[in-house]
Order: sequence, then structure tokens, then C-alpha cells
Amino acid sequence: MLIGVAAETDPAETRVAATPETVKKFVSLGAKVAVAHGAGEKAGVPDADYQSAGAQLVSADEALAADVVLKVRRPSAQEIAALKSGALVIAAMDPYGHDDAVGALAKSGVAAFAMELLPRITRAQVMDILSSQANLAGYRAVVDATAEYGRALPMMMTPAGTVPAARMFIMGVGVAGLQAIATGRRLGAIVTATDVRPATKEQVESLGAKFVAVEDEEFKQAETAGGYAKEMSDAYKAKQAALVAAHIAKQDVVVTTALIPGRPAPRLVTAEMIRAMRPGSVIVDLAVERGGNVELAKAGEVVTTDNGVKIIGTSNVTRLAATASALYARNLYAFVETLIDKANKALAVNWDDELVKATCLTRGGAIVHPNFLPK
Ligand code: NAI
Repeated sequence: MLIGVAAETDPAETRVAATPETVKKFVSLGAKVAVAHGAGEKAGVPDADYQSAGAQLVSADEALAADVVLKVRRPSAQEIAALKSGALVIAAMDPYGHDDAVGALAKSGVAAFAMELLPRITRAQVMDILSSQANLAGYRAVVDATAEYGRALPMMMTPAGTVPAARMFIMGVGVAGLQAIATGRRLGAIVTATDVRPATKEQVESLGAKFVAVEDEEFKQAETAGGYAKEMSDAYKAKQAALVAAHIAKQDVVVTTALIPGRPAPRLVTAEMIRAMRPGSVIVDLAVERGGNVELAKAGEVVTTDNGVKIIGTSNVTRLAATASALYARNLYAFVETLIDKANKALAVNWDDELVKATCLTRGGAIVHPNFLPK
């Protein structure tokens, strides 16, 4: 059983899918681990540390030719060519809207697992890459906003007079939003937050922030059995927009994190709302890569609007590469461990396991996940 740790090829990606800590654990399960040269460099992990943990250093193609390949991002067409038919490939596959890429993975004969499709059940919490990365994204969003904001966040009473506390508004209170609230509060901002799921109201208040939302009948039904948000009706969106417009005009920092699984991110902040904000205000759009919550936001950029509002759309967890990799690597280890027969020290995938079924996109040359079957 050879586990390959690939070097990420996307220039924007700084994370790595295994750390010396998880390499050691894989070795103690009886696996051989092959790490691509330089795989951990951008995450602050030198090759020598992988070697000391028991890994062998190999070329990029050799790492991709393993029985189990660990990656952060979905393999590119070039990387797919180096994969071995029948191998297990585990990554954040970002499959929605990328039918061609899923098709190419199927064609290569690998079993591709999309870690972001794990169900939110207790057994899977330790493997939940969405939570581990979103938590850091929420924290980093507030740090980034603070860096761009030309004023102080906390109230300060100084001999030269009082500095008022900044007003911070968090839109979307999942894992990222909750961490953004906690971070904003720690830094002394006055924090308000909104979401369409009623369960979040209590969570927001328990962190010492104020909940702001249209709490009508539709709002009371807005959570799916899986705990995710539903797409709201146009009537609800109009009411929400009116409330948000009035609130946003008074905010110094806005962080948006709203996502709906498998759908484009909802548009929550319009150009008109941004025009009503004060110069120097800052918006962070964490959903920018999924269509964006904020009009005018651009992925990978900090945009300054005509009225002096900064909109941050730069990639976020990749600037916390060491911490993000440490948690991501543990998530992957916890998942892969369930695919290994410890007595025989060999791969033994239970294809009927609910976690395997929920994440397995392709197998045996075909797409097998019901959400991605060709129409
Ligand atoms: P997410 O990243 O999918 O979305 C972020 C937030 O945006 C969600 O709270 C969502 O309700 C909100 N949102 C969507 N549309 C909106 C709109 N139009 N306006 C305002 N807000 C909007 O969320 P995440 O972090 O993945 O959490 C989703 C759910 O999963 C939550 O209930 C969370 O508590 C739960 N969860 C459960 C876990 C477990 O049991 N293992 C682990 C992590 C999260």
C-alpha cells in the first residue's frame, strides 16, 4: 500500500495534503508514503521533515502514481494522466459545475473522493474539511479586514479623546461566520450577524453579537434536514435586501460567508448598498470563488470602489497554509484510516459505507455519484 502526497500545481495553492504528523501515522498503519519533492514548501514543511517522519521523497509523477493519492485540489488534466487506474484519489474535488473534470477522472479509472461531500454526521466530524478550513477562513477574513481598515476596531479612551468601536456585520453564520463573529468580538468590534437559518440566532447571541434578520414564516422553514440553507424565494430576498441595505450603510466592516451547497452563492450585497457605505469601510467576500455574495468583488483582488470602499476577494486560507494544512491533513488521515484493514495492513474499502458512498465520485471507469451522473 503506497500513499502518494502530491505537490499542488495551482500557483494559488499553498497547502499540502499531508504533514509529517500524518505521514508518521500512515507509516504506523503499515503504509509506505511517497511525498513529492517540495510538496510542503509553501506550507512551511521542508522535505527533510517528511523524510524524518518515514516518507520517501519522489518526483511529482511518482507521487501521483501511488495506490492512494492525497491532494488539496482536484487533479489537473496533466496530473490525471499520471494517476494509476484503480487508485484512490482523495481531495477537495469541487465537482459542482465541473462535469468535464469529473468525466476525465472517471475515464482515468480512478476512484475519486470529494471530501467536501461528507455528510455532517458525528462520525465524519473529524474528517470534515469544510469545517476545518471554514473556521480558519472566518478568522482570517477578520484579520484581513482589520489590516485594510484605516481605523482601530476597539473603542479606545485616550488622553486625546475617545475612538469609537468599529461596527462589524457578518452575513452567513455557518462555521466561517461564527469564527468571524468570535474574532471580531475579541478585537473589540460591535458585531451584528444575519443568516436565513433560524438556529443561528441563538448561536450569534451566545457569542455576544446581535442577530439581524427577516424572521417571517419562510425564515422558520429555511433549514434543510441536512442542516444547510435553502435557496430563498424572491419575496424573501427583497425583504432581506431592504433590511440589509439600511443596516449596511452604518457598518465599517462587512464579512460575507453565505453559501448554498451545489448552487451559486446568493447575492447579498449590491453595488447600490456599497455606494451607501462610508469611505474607508471594508467588505470581505469569502464566497467570491463560488459566484460571490458581493457585487463588484473580484476573486484574488482587493477592489477599491469609487466611493472608497475596499472589497477583499483575495484567497484566504491559503495565507494560513501551515495551520490549514495541519488540519486538512488530519481530516484526510481520519478518512483514509477507515479505508485500511489494520490487521492485514492493506487497503480494504467498504464501498457500502455511507461516508464512502457520499464522497465517491468515480470508480471503475464511470461516474458513480448520483449527483453527477451524466444527464
Ligand atoms: P456554509 O458554508 O454552507 O454557508 C454559510 C452560511 O451561509 C450558512 O449558515 C447558511 O445558512 C448561510 N446562508 C445561505 N444563504 C444565505 C442567505 N441568503 N442569507 C444569509 N445567510 C445565508 O455553512 P457551513 O459552515 O458549512 O454550515 C452549514 C451547516 O452545517 C450549519 O448548520 C452548521 O452548524 C452545520 N455543520 C455541522 C457539522 C457537523 O455536524 N459535523 C460540521 C460543520 C457544520
